[in-house]
Amino acid sequence: MSVEARFLRPLPVLVLLPLRQGDDEGAIAPALLPAVGGIFSPAGGRRTASFSRKSTICRPGTFEMDIQAERITMGKVLVLYDSASGNTEKMALLVVEGARMIPGIEVRLRKIDEAMADDVHWCDGLALGSPTNMGLLSWKMKRFWDEPMAPNWMKLDGKIACAFSSSGGWGGGAELACQSLLTVLVNFGFLVFGVTDYAGKLTTAHYGSITAREPREDDTQSACRLLGKRLAEWVAVFCDGRKDQHPMKKSDIRLGPG
Ligand SMILES: Cc1cc2nc3c(=O)[nH]c(=O)nc-3n(C[C@H](O)[C@H](O)[C@H](O)COP(=O)(O)O)c2cc1C
Repeated sequence: MSVEARFLRPLPVLVLLPLRQGDDEGAIAPALLPAVGGIFSPAGGRRTASFSRKSTICRPGTFEMDIQAERITMGKVLVLYDSASGNTEKMALLVVEGARMIPGIEVRLRKIDEAMADDVHWCDGLALGSPTNMGLLSWKMKRFWDEPMAPNWMKLDGKIACAFSSSGGWGGGAELACQSLLTVLVNFGFLVFGVTDYAGKLTTAHYGSITAREPREDDTQSACRLLGKRLAEWVAVFCDGRKDQHPMKKSDIRLGPG
């Protein structure tokens, strides 16, 4: 079944579909998706995920459909981290997993050594991770914001961000390190957040996700995923206008203090 689609106004699309004897109307909607998607995808790099049918007028031999294309945009999440011995990197992979739980979100992972200012410009939401070094972000992470990012100051305002950190031990300053990451982000105009939910009975990510060494326990792993998922949800809500992704409106289980 071949489909022709063209723009009427920026979003609504008129689709003219020649009908043959015996064509199944139920097959029409799936056939339309590639046509509509084909129009939107190359243009803005954003994808069409679904559409709703507004009206249907059938004439002999033709099926004419005025569809209101629902353009579900793709929010972009960057997980950017430093890691000297691999612990924060393991957290970063879990944050990526969490962000990917939200459909339609594009996720990019970058280690600080290979990251560029363009990566930060690309994203709508940023999860920034660093090992705890003397209760602070690592020197490599600081240098990234001091040097390649400095000329980009005043050009990034309004992106959404959060933090995560691995320390040598509980009480070693991981939350302080998160705070220092958040301070840098605030300085650059990012909108930063913490997560109110509990990831386990005694585990939260109120100021970002933290672990002692690698994220080994289920709860600390969940906290990393939860952070990534929440970032992707906020990007979906605030950057893509997907109100259904607001965590307070979803049927997902949200855990309070255990
Ligand atoms: C220079 C330096 C400073 C550190 N400072 C702290 C610290 O203040 N508190 C702490 O708990 N661990 C500290 N650590 C330990 C690291 O935070 C810990 O080993 C972390 O898991 C390393 O993460 P990574 O594997 O991603 O590099 C420090 C390590 C280094 C190399």
